Amino acid sequence: MVKFMELLSTGSRALDELLGGGIGRKVLTQIYGSFATGKTTLAAQVGLLNRGKVAYIDTEGGFSPERVALMAESRGIEPELALQKFIIFEPQDFKEQKRIVAKLKTLVDETFSLIVLDSITAHYRVEENKSRLLTELGKQLQILLWLSRKFNLGVIVVNQVHFDSKAGVSKPVAEHILGYKCKDILRLDKFNRPNVRVAVLERHRFRPEGGIVYFRITERGIEDI
Ligand SMILES: Nc1ncnc2c1ncn2[C@@H]1O[C@H](COP(=O)(O)OP(=O)(O)OP(=O)(O)O)[C@@H](O)[C@H]1O
Ligand SMILES: [Mg+2]
Repeated sequence: MVKFMELLSTGSRALDELLGGGIGRKVLTQIYGSFATGKTTLAAQVGLLNRGKVAYIDTEGGFSPERVALMAESRGIEPELALQKFIIFEPQDFKEQKRIVAKLKTLVDETFSLIVLDSITAHYRVEENKSRLLTELGKQLQILLWLSRKFNLGVIVVNQVHFDSKAGVSKPVAEHILGYKCKDILRLDKFNRPNVRVAVLERHRFRPEGGIVYFRITERGIEDI
């Protein structure tokens, strides 16, 4: 009999419903969007609200312990205990990011529930020789996928957008390689109301694509409207 796996709740009923229950395990979930759309807040909140440790690779200094402590406190979670769950890595360049992802193989085990790579393409974008880097990106994604399956983890791969002038739209960076490896893809957009954001399900293993929900970014983190 197929045993349904416990999903990782986002803490927002609307987002959980959109994702068929929450962030999946044994699969890579890509969350992408332009700046300040809530990618880091959402990834941190998934780590905060679910049992198990979190390996958080912060490539841009976007992860804020103060912010997570505040989110915890406003949700009645002891901030010190909440922060202890997070193992933070801060690679300074793409080479170090590569080393850290490889190191996760000896560090992560079943006491973890989540790995976050925030963001996978920040260092990648500023370096050259794209085809070699694309191969390297693929390798990193492969390691994350292997870990997720071995230890039943959720993996959130945060990605940024670039403007594709030919198509006239914003697209995820390294769209193809990430599209192949990430079975679930969520796009976050701004909305013309302060603190409100839109989440669009672009791809999912068992939910229809194109679903849309709205959420707010508040002191508590990500909240339903
Ligand atoms: N304490 C807080 N209360 C309410 N909103 C906050 C608080 N702290 C941060 N924010 C809001 O969160 C948003 C930034 O969210 P977040 O850092 O998750 O975005 P992001 O998509 O990761 O951005 P980037 O691409 O720059 O990394 C900002 O709009 C900011 O105003
Ligand atoms: Mg961020």
